[in-house]
Amino acid sequence: RRTFVAVLAAVSMTITGTTLAGTPAQAKPRVTAQPGSPGIGDSYYPEYGNGGYDVDHYDIRLRYNPANDQLTGTTTILARATQDLSRFNLDFLLNVSSVRVNGWSATHARAGAHELVVTPARTIRAGQSLTVVVQYSGVPSQVLYDGYTAWRRTADGAMAVNEPESAWWWYPSNDHPLDKATFDVSVSVPDGVEVISNGVQPRPPIGELLGWTRWIWRTTKPTATYLTFLTIGQYDIVTDTAPNGQQVINAYHVGLGELGNAARASIERTAEVVEWSSGLFGPWPFEAQGGVAGPLDGIGFALETQTRPVYGPGFWRRGSNPYVIVHEIAHQWFGDSVSVAEWRNIWLNEGFASYAEWLWSEAQGEGTAQEVFDFTYASYPESSSFWQVLPGAPGPDLIFHGAVYDRGAMAVHQLRLAVGDDAFFQILKAWTSSRQYGNGTIEQFQALAEQISGQDLSAVLTTWLFTAGRPDLTGGADAQA
Ligand code: ARG
Ligand code: ZN
Repeated sequence: RRTFVAVLAAVSMTITGTTLAGTPAQAKPRVTAQPGSPGIGDSYYPEYGNGGYDVDHYDIRLRYNPANDQLTGTTTILARATQDLSRFNLDFLLNVSSVRVNGWSATHARAGAHELVVTPARTIRAGQSLTVVVQYSGVPSQVLYDGYTAWRRTADGAMAVNEPESAWWWYPSNDHPLDKATFDVSVSVPDGVEVISNGVQPRPPIGELLGWTRWIWRTTKPTATYLTFLTIGQYDIVTDTAPNGQQVINAYHVGLGELGNAARASIERTAEVVEWSSGLFGPWPFEAQGGVAGPLDGIGFALETQTRPVYGPGFWRRGSNPYVIVHEIAHQWFGDSVSVAEWRNIWLNEGFASYAEWLWSEAQGEGTAQEVFDFTYASYPESSSFWQVLPGAPGPDLIFHGAVYDRGAMAVHQLRLAVGDDAFFQILKAWTSSRQYGNGTIEQFQALAEQISGQDLSAVLTTWLFTAGRPDLTGGADAQA
């Protein structure tokens, strides 16, 4: 592929050769080189991501000491310029000591809340390969953005698990789901400390210096930055082979006490849930499977980190909880393989992951999806502010509001009722297969659903996703609009 681009570049040089011949070398291109945009164009988070380049791969090489939360590292970014670039941005918060671009020392400066501005020594040409090496250090739990840090220091380690932003505290990136990449992550920690991340372990941890061990993780499928994670601390790691032959790597924090068994009784069902979900959503899109049970002093939510979700301890309080496993595994298709093109489309993630739980309930004989719909609808009184949040347009401060989940799942159920089961399950598979490893919008989903069902779905989607107030159930979809 690189060779092909080089050939094209040579051809265009020949074509424009006459123009260039009479001009001083580089004079014309220099005029056209512009700074890369500080944002990728997300309507909810205008500064997230960056323009002007596209990342293929991140190589993140870290050293971390839980005793003082000191992180030092080097991230090497393999990217390609999508325009002539005078400079470009990365999203990052830690202290940068040096940046090199294609081997040349580059200048760097901080701008805005989380932007690192890199000015290469030489203008970058559109289509050119970029190798960006960033060296840095910091105490990430103390680096605040808008008053908080997504790097949580725990009693015996740390965790970087958050949505929509988590990378800023451990590696520089183009932090938006539109720019997916593969990852090599390695972290050197004191002997006896475990490090867990996404994907496979290409080789076991290696002792490197006296008292230090390096852990190596690799992601080989395109991954959005917010779906990468690190958990560091005292974990029991349980490895196995899934029915489809893949590595299963589960990790349980050792301090879960009486919750530890419920965590195991849930996460150990991951391979079963993967198999069940593949029947509904299509082949499992990733290279490994697993789950991480985080510590008591870690996160208070779960996140669909790619290949290996991370679960907060609260989910195990009532015994095993297959529903949270089903939710995070459903996200591997709805969120991870097919990611939001803009964060306003969060219903495509949370509505469908929540509806997967209703389907699991139905399959397990614990209540049909219709019964769960009726219960959910009834549990929010008409006067509740719940009905004022639009799952299809919650606004940047409410992307994880309960309405995105519960009313979002109600919307999926109404869609199912409108098109019938045959078309509905066909739509789910067509969505995940046609956009695998890519991105999507609600409008694109509606277009696909209309194409497969042969119906105009604007009334049902407007009612359930985009209209404030509790929809009336008595008059049918048309009367509700
Ligand atoms: N996508 C996550 C889920 O499975 C949401 C996590 C939101 N919480 C947070 N603190 N970022 O529901
Ligand atoms: Zn979710």
